[in-house]
Amino acid sequence: MKVKVGLIGLFDMLKFKNLAKNRKELIDSTSAKALPYSYVVNDLAKLYHPYKQKLIIEKIVEEGKDVKSFILTSNEKLAPFKAGSYISIYVQINNEIASRAYSLSSSPLDVAKGFYRITIKRAPHGLVSNYMLDHAKVGDELYASEPGGFLTYNRLRDAKNVIAVAGGVGITPFISMAKAINDHVEDFNLTILYGVNKKEDIIFKDEIDYLNKTDKVKIVYVFAKEEVPGYPHGFITSDLIKQYAKDEYSVFATGPRGLLDSLVNELPKLNLPKKYIRLEQSPLCLKSEPVEYKIRVHVNGEVVDIKAKSTETILQALEHSNISIRSKCHLGGCGFCRSKLISGCYEATKFENIKEIDRKFNYIHPCCSYPRSNMEIEVYEY
Ligand code: FES
Repeated sequence: MKVKVGLIGLFDMLKFKNLAKNRKELIDSTSAKALPYSYVVNDLAKLYHPYKQKLIIEKIVEEGKDVKSFILTSNEKLAPFKAGSYISIYVQINNEIASRAYSLSSSPLDVAKGFYRITIKRAPHGLVSNYMLDHAKVGDELYASEPGGFLTYNRLRDAKNVIAVAGGVGITPFISMAKAINDHVEDFNLTILYGVNKKEDIIFKDEIDYLNKTDKVKIVYVFAKEEVPGYPHGFITSDLIKQYAKDEYSVFATGPRGLLDSLVNELPKLNLPKKYIRLEQSPLCLKSEPVEYKIRVHVNGEVVDIKAKSTETILQALEHSNISIRSKCHLGGCGFCRSKLISGCYEATKFENIKEIDRKFNYIHPCCSYPRSNMEIEVYEY
């Protein structure tokens, strides 16, 4: 046995001895033809992570009172996405660029058919939402980020059964998930508790009726403000979730603040492991005395002074001054808007999820940070 090992070692040494010679022979015998211009892996990376997507509004569908869906196409290939993802769209409103994230309500398979669908509800003071509802028209062009998000199913982390709690237009990512299951792109059991005030507030009624016939999908309306025979009435509580839960289950939730705030109190009663609970909530605006500050912005080698209100995020202040920076989640979680703080004070919302190393080297997330003094920052234009 010892002799055998020794021989192998000897052969290895001989191979090593000839390494340089063999390599030179190989190089000399290789064709002088230029290397391919593109590589599959680079093309895939570009497809999955486009820097920017130029989208065209192909169709607008009224889904209900103050709710519209927008079918968005592109002359390029659209980036694929996982059900539950969002895109951040950028629109020009007067002289400002404004960006907001919206969940995709289409199936991931629809990308192959060449479209995304986002669904938007009017919101009090919703700059982009209200602009889209009132002014966007078929044929308009807009830019969008690559899709992303945390509210997606991962079979390594999540239980095989998912209870999705949705309020109002918060149903959109779960409609995408239900469609993905129906299209066999995802494989888990999904029960959606869809909270609405009244019957007239339901959106996607026909799609829900259709999806409810899918084996692994069940969508239950929960009416808060009217009693409808056969359906739960009131708020979505831990008891209601338990009623529809079976075996091991995860809970995903998104919707209006009132619903999410009440779930923050309800969900601990389920005693689920932390990894089984996923809430997608937009940060509360931080309250403060209205004060106007100045932010010195370094962008593209130039220095620009802009005004910033204490009641608005730094991202909003940049957008009001027509400075567009990269953003995706608008929740403080993705890091896409990461910018360098040179001086000054800011306050970040509690959902900001900044890496320790970024904090150490003075990076901030302008999407969820509010100025608390005059500041100087460096941003990366989009
Ligand atoms: S846009 Fe995601 S962290 Fe700011």
